[in-house]
Amino acid sequence: MQRPEPLKQRIMNHSDWISREAEKSLTRLLPGVREALAGEDGLLPPDVRSVFETRLKFHFPRLFRLLVGLYGWQYDFHYHLEQILLTAARAWRQRPEYLRKLDALREADPHWFKSEQMVGGVLYVDLFADNLAGLHDHIGYFKRLGLTYLHLMPLFAVPRECNDGGYAVSDYRAIHPDVGTMEELTELARILNNEGISLVLDFVMNHTSDEHDWAWRARSGEADYQDFYLMFEDRAVVDQYQRNLRDIFPDIRRGSFTFDKQSGKWVWTTFNNFQWDLNYANPAVFHAMAEEMLFLANVGVDVLRLDAVAFTWKRMGTPCENLPEAHQLIQAFNALVRIAAPSMLFKSEAIVHPDEVVRYIHPEECQLSYNPLLMALLWEALATRDVTLLRYAMTHRGDIHPECVWVNYLRCHDDIGWTFDDDDARAVGIDPDGHRRFLNDFYTGRFPGSFAAGMPFQFNPETGDLRISGTLASLAGLETALAERDPVLVEASVRRINLLRSIMMSAGGIPLIYLGDEWGMLNDYTFLSDPARAGDTRWVHRSRKKWQSKDGTYDPEALEWRFFDELVTMVSLRKELPAFKNSGMKVVDTENRHVFGFLREGGGQRILVLNNFSEFPRHIPQHVLDRCTSATMFVDRITGRTVQNGDGIDLAGHQYIWLECL
Ligand code: GLC
Ligand code: GLC
Repeated sequence: MQRPEPLKQRIMNHSDWISREAEKSLTRLLPGVREALAGEDGLLPPDVRSVFETRLKFHFPRLFRLLVGLYGWQYDFHYHLEQILLTAARAWRQRPEYLRKLDALREADPHWFKSEQMVGGVLYVDLFADNLAGLHDHIGYFKRLGLTYLHLMPLFAVPRECNDGGYAVSDYRAIHPDVGTMEELTELARILNNEGISLVLDFVMNHTSDEHDWAWRARSGEADYQDFYLMFEDRAVVDQYQRNLRDIFPDIRRGSFTFDKQSGKWVWTTFNNFQWDLNYANPAVFHAMAEEMLFLANVGVDVLRLDAVAFTWKRMGTPCENLPEAHQLIQAFNALVRIAAPSMLFKSEAIVHPDEVVRYIHPEECQLSYNPLLMALLWEALATRDVTLLRYAMTHRGDIHPECVWVNYLRCHDDIGWTFDDDDARAVGIDPDGHRRFLNDFYTGRFPGSFAAGMPFQFNPETGDLRISGTLASLAGLETALAERDPVLVEASVRRINLLRSIMMSAGGIPLIYLGDEWGMLNDYTFLSDPARAGDTRWVHRSRKKWQSKDGTYDPEALEWRFFDELVTMVSLRKELPAFKNSGMKVVDTENRHVFGFLREGGGQRILVLNNFSEFPRHIPQHVLDRCTSATMFVDRITGRTVQNGDGIDLAGHQYIWLECL
């Protein structure tokens, strides 16, 4: 006998029914929304109100469908829906004029962020410039680098000692007092906007710190706020959940739950014990977080980096990662933002299996996403000098929705995890587990002949899992080379670093520079003497060290300047070349296992990028070039040299070329 369709499915499948319900619901809610839009003073001009109404009418059916899917079975669904719409209306009323204009501009040019002009930078305000006021002095520097996208790492109020580098937020509307004030951030957003730099901030949506007001209230026994988190009296229930969960920070703590003495309950804490997971199954949490999100939108955020998106929804008997509801949740936030702050985009931070990473990428979910696979495989190829796995994975997995974009990075504030697909590895003859062990040995410098000076992060003795910390320069061999005072090794590491940067700058997507890497920042081991940080090796690449000569005299021989200059050259080239306009790239089989190649095409221009991962010269045969182009001549846009098409191409060790086909 066929099983009856579950009620939820039945309803979701009846889109007519949903549309009718949405219409009825909107008719009922509109008068209240109009009142909220007008506000008590009634000052908002009617045309500005009607813009909101138009957007609401357009996007409401989608929002309604998503919210019904998530919360439609709750007795107070309509109450929450109303609250959510009123919040959106109030947010629109309070939205600064310049942002409302930006909303209209970007609605007319929805692909603005996919431009070849986009180049990102990311930094910690306190480490880079002490505070927000200090950051103003660096805008010239950002412009010199060519940045048009600036991600300020979490700068909100957090617990003083343990705060996971800012990812344990105590108040989404307050800035950490050492860093500045919300007024300063709002002003900075406006200045950056004038300078053509988009502001990216984190939305730490999976959890709050245990010092958030909601957590205090939960702890002291307020039932409404206990429902904001996942709190359990019964250890047996906790154990049942625990069976399917993986440990994210196994070095620090085993299990995903923390006992809170005051309430006498177990609290779900996926990350550290002071990061309490929010209970998104509660519509009040969705509403409360929507308020925080729209508040940040009105500060002037262009892109919200949605933190730890994979973990937001839990269901017993599953790993509680990447559940369908986690996607619906983001889509519902997305629909709400289209109504109340449409110029703002989402960037997904899903550092999970590549099949799962791409599921967060969609115009109606996250328009931008980190590209952890490319990142990890670039490091893999650098260690092995072999691009087979990189080429295979990028050929099969590189494509995403054409209206979305990858954010390509080499390093960030987090560790490197070897998130490639096991079957991809097997398909090219690599044993995935053994290979991960090799990569970990290599990047922690234990493998004989390794150039890397990385540190191990979060070893899990049960699974053997390990990830890697370290700066770009240290992982690529500069630290070891300098310690050995060997100019040949130093040159070799410089070439490796530039090779990786060439790919970040020329691949399809937005390049994102982890600031410090532009001048070759090395690991900083001082965190080891700070008890609040010593247990987390990611601090080795979160350094306060600054490049002293940054604003000082120019010295083209100095290593820092060489790194800086080379990067600036790549950035300006990237912006000049129409071939980089479209975000897609076509991976080319170079028939050489050391050379990673891809084609970029656009604006009537075609560029073949070739990257030699070996330290030895390599040759690309003519028939490979013939497959890519019928050009008679190439210009290497990196060196300006002209190359005749005829005898194939010779690449020096670690050479990268951006060949314009003429
Ligand atoms: C994200 C952040 C990471 C943090 C974690 C928990 O992955 O990038 O730094 O530890 O979320 O918030
Ligand atoms: C953060 C951690 C990383 C973990 C990930 C899960 O990025 O640094 O190690 O795998 O979160 O989202």
